[in-house]
Amino acid sequence: MDETMLSYIWAEDRTGVIGDRGRLPWHLPTEMHHFTVLTTGHPIIMGARTFRSFPKGPLPNRRNLVLTHQPAHLLGQGIEVIHDVESIYRMIDAEPAEEFFVIGGNSLFESLLPLVDKLYQTQIDHDYRGDVRMIPIPWNQFELVRQRQLPADGQTPALTFNEYRRIKGKSKVEL
Ligand SMILES: NC(=O)c1ccc[n+]([C@@H]2O[C@H](COP(=O)([O-])OP(=O)(O)OC[C@H]3O[C@@H](n4cnc5c(N)ncnc54)[C@H](OP(=O)(O)O)[C@@H]3O)[C@@H](O)[C@H]2O)c1
Repeated sequence: MDETMLSYIWAEDRTGVIGDRGRLPWHLPTEMHHFTVLTTGHPIIMGARTFRSFPKGPLPNRRNLVLTHQPAHLLGQGIEVIHDVESIYRMIDAEPAEEFFVIGGNSLFESLLPLVDKLYQTQIDHDYRGDVRMIPIPWNQFELVRQRQLPADGQTPALTFNEYRRIKGKSKVEL
């Protein structure tokens, strides 16, 4: 699986909070725009809780791949239901030219960590209440290749958009 690109994309606050009671803890259109620009046209892979957090169902113009133990019909239409992580391995292996985005939550971030090539991290310069924190990332396996900083603007705190790539030879597991 040399060419397949597996990427993570997430936003976290100053303490690593990413979720609160099944939802995002914030409403930040600039961050949402960043997410939309990067993921549109590419498959997005998510856990069922993350999918249920979408107020309008599947995100448009992207394949929505949802991991769940439940029967597919319980989650509605417009998505591809996956029942185990091994099926994700097979899907990404079958499309070597595609960039797959894992968009959360934590069980997916945990289980695919040995395979991830790129990390798109947004740091939000604020403290929110939350019940889900980003998993620890082995940062020594990645290098920062791009960074964009936006100062605070009205209700929107300062945002830093980071893009990391796995350093060649640093423990990427090949399928
Ligand atoms: N800030 C961000 O960038 C960001 C990104 C994503 C999510 N979030 C937030 O994080 C929270 C959700 O994340 P989460 O970690 O709690 O949940 P999650 O990973 O989105 O979903 C967990 C669910 O995924 C399914 N699942 C997980 N592993 C599985 C496996 N190996 N086989 C089959 N099904 C599996 C199960 O669904 P079933 O129970 O249906 O079986 C499990 O209950 C929300 O608050 C969301 O808003 C934030």
